Amino acid sequence: MKFVDQLPVDKKLVFLRVDFNVPLKDGRVVDDTRIRASLPTIKYLLERQARIVAASHLGRPGGKVVPELSTRPVAERLAEILGREVKFLPEIIGEEVDREKSSLNPGEILFLENLRFHPGETKDDPEFASRLAKGIEVYINDAFGTCHRANASVHALAEIIRIKGAGFLIKKEIEHLSKALKEPRHPFILITGGAKVSSKIPILRYMMRHADRIIVGGAMAYTFLKVTGKSIGASLLEEEMLGEAESILREAEDRGVEFVLPVDHRCVREIKEDSEIRVMENIEDGWIGVDIGPGTEKLFAEKIKDSAMIVWNGPMGIFEMEPFSHGTKAVAEAVASSGAYSIVGGGDSIAAIRKAGVEDKITHISTGGGASLEYLSGKTLPGLAVLEEE
Ligand code: 3PG
Repeated sequence: MKFVDQLPVDKKLVFLRVDFNVPLKDGRVVDDTRIRASLPTIKYLLERQARIVAASHLGRPGGKVVPELSTRPVAERLAEILGREVKFLPEIIGEEVDREKSSLNPGEILFLENLRFHPGETKDDPEFASRLAKGIEVYINDAFGTCHRANASVHALAEIIRIKGAGFLIKKEIEHLSKALKEPRHPFILITGGAKVSSKIPILRYMMRHADRIIVGGAMAYTFLKVTGKSIGASLLEEEMLGEAESILREAEDRGVEFVLPVDHRCVREIKEDSEIRVMENIEDGWIGVDIGPGTEKLFAEKIKDSAMIVWNGPMGIFEMEPFSHGTKAVAEAVASSGAYSIVGGGDSIAAIRKAGVEDKITHISTGGGASLEYLSGKTLPGLAVLEEE
């Protein structure tokens, strides 16, 4: 794979795919982390006087125009950060876009409308991609968070344009994430959580071959606990995953991987912020586990302390509700103080790292949730594979 600094981009018309799928509130960007993460690539292209056509998706508008999901506020935020003009066009393809593209001067940026307003984007439609490709000389993908999607702007378009490569954000993501796959340091720990076992099976299976220890928290832990014969009350259970969970536990045992599950839980009768919380080891009928308990926080911290490498994806409880966010914050602190090479992905885990104020103690915070999960599951990401093609 070539990177942007290995390609002839000077004064060229460059299509830059970014992942500026950022949270908005009242038409304003509330978290610009993903925009800032692509600044090294954008600044490099500007220095080389490239003529930049930048584009992103935002949310899931389903192939039609949804005004609240316009990328206009995102383009405005980029202009604010860069302190220079970013032209915005509420179009993706068409004559007006072609005109604007051809009139771009060196060092100018044109930002397109939300790519997913067009039905061709999520269908990886070659027809749509060839319209995006009109006049484009170089294709750069810096949208790591979207590389697991075979969408037209990350896949079909890259198949059309001969001179192509990745931006510095993708370079950094690959450098860190591939370390966990190719150069694991031991003890190597996978910490995972979140609601569903089903979404974490690939990473559990793949990491089992590399990790010395797997820590599971969050609602997905209840399905595993059920297999081990614990009472889980009315906690979330994925019935159809019981067999898979059992087989994962068996595989861990066969491979000698230590599988650590919660030993106590913060429980409520109803999932509401003001519900009475009780800590239980065996969850009673009618009670729902919503966070790991204080005993588990201690146990997990103990298991995390001596690690050399950590991959963490997924919260330990219903993190978005303050009373149930203790466990996730405790894990954030334990990961930060471990001194291990740490890789964190997924919105809630990252939010916990921020809330705990320990960002600077984490080796790599990935900008990709689903993408980093798939990468760390050993899968080939279509948006990266296509950049390898000649
Ligand atoms: C993300 O936020 O994970 C990426 O931007 C991909 O978005 P998607 O899950 O809607 O494809």
